[in-house]
Parts: sequence; structure tokens; C-alpha cells
Amino acid sequence: GKERTLGMIKPDGVSGNYTEEIKMIIVDSGFSIVNERLTQLDKETASAFYEEHSSRSFFPDLVSYMTSGPVLAMVLEKRDAVSDWRGLIGPTDAQKAKISHPHSIRALCGKDSQRNCVHGSDSTSSAEREIKFFFEDVVSDDIASHQ
Ligand code: CMP
Repeated sequence: GKERTLGMIKPDGVSGNYTEEIKMIIVDSGFSIVNERLTQLDKETASAFYEEHSSRSFFPDLVSYMTSGPVLAMVLEKRDAVSDWRGLIGPTDAQKAKISHPHSIRALCGKDSQRNCVHGSDSTSSAEREIKFFFEDVVSDDIASHQ
């Protein structure tokens, strides 16, 4: 059956005007965008979203990056949505993606291992948590929402 995952266009993707191109790739790849929300994360919400990385050395930089501008969170639906979306975005390090996965979204618009343009849930349980995070619980300060 169908599955849902959380896809997100990060601040560099939104400010770099990649939103429409990425959405085209998403739809062409067989996903439905069943919900979306353009929102500005603050320090507290970005830290909560990336809680599992809080002990990593890159965490403070990650929080600064993720709060540097609006993000577009999307609920993506198709069969095997979690793994197919991870495949479509490519490896975390966008520099590596450009070599090993040249047709991936991170190869298209990512810069490096941090500013990698897009996010995807890494498991069905993460997907459930992250969809709730953006669409039910934590994030409420919408800039604009659709559908
Ligand atoms: P994402 O897939 O959203 O999950 C965690 C994020 O942390 C990742 O994308 C990057 O933006 C960031 N990240 C992961 N590894 C590193 C790293 N080695 N250096 C800097 N940022 C990283």
C-alpha cells in the first residue's frame, strides 16, 4: 500500500528558488504532495526537530542553518515513499552526491554535507514523528500554507 514520508526543502533550497523545480521532480517521480507548509523554524523548534543530533559537533551550525530562512515541509505519499524519497534526494554530502548520484536532488541544489538543500525521513517511524512535528504539534507559525 501507500506510505507517507516527510520531505523538506531547507532554507538554501527555498531562498535559491529551487522549490518549483523540486516539486516538479517529486510529482514526476510518482509522489503526491498531500500537504505542505512554508514555515520559519526558530532555535527551539529546529533543535527539537534534530534532537537526535544534539550531541554532534555540527549541531549548533545545523540549528543556525535551519533557522536562516523559511523551510517548506511536505507530506509525500507513494508506495515505498520513505526509501524512494531518500533515494531521490541522494547522499547527505552534496559534494559526494554530485559525483555518485548526479541526478539526485542534493546534486542539483546542495552545497556540502550541511547545506544539502533537502531532508527526508530515514525510517517509517521517523516519518510518523516528523509529519506530526510539522503538521500536528510543534510548528504553528505558518508563513503560508496550502491545501
Ligand atoms: P538531514 O538529512 O536533514 O539530517 C541531519 C542533517 O545534519 C543533515 O541533513 C545535514 O544538514 C546535517 N549534517 C549531517 N552530517 C553533517 C556533517 N558531517 N557536517 C555538517 N552537517 C551535517
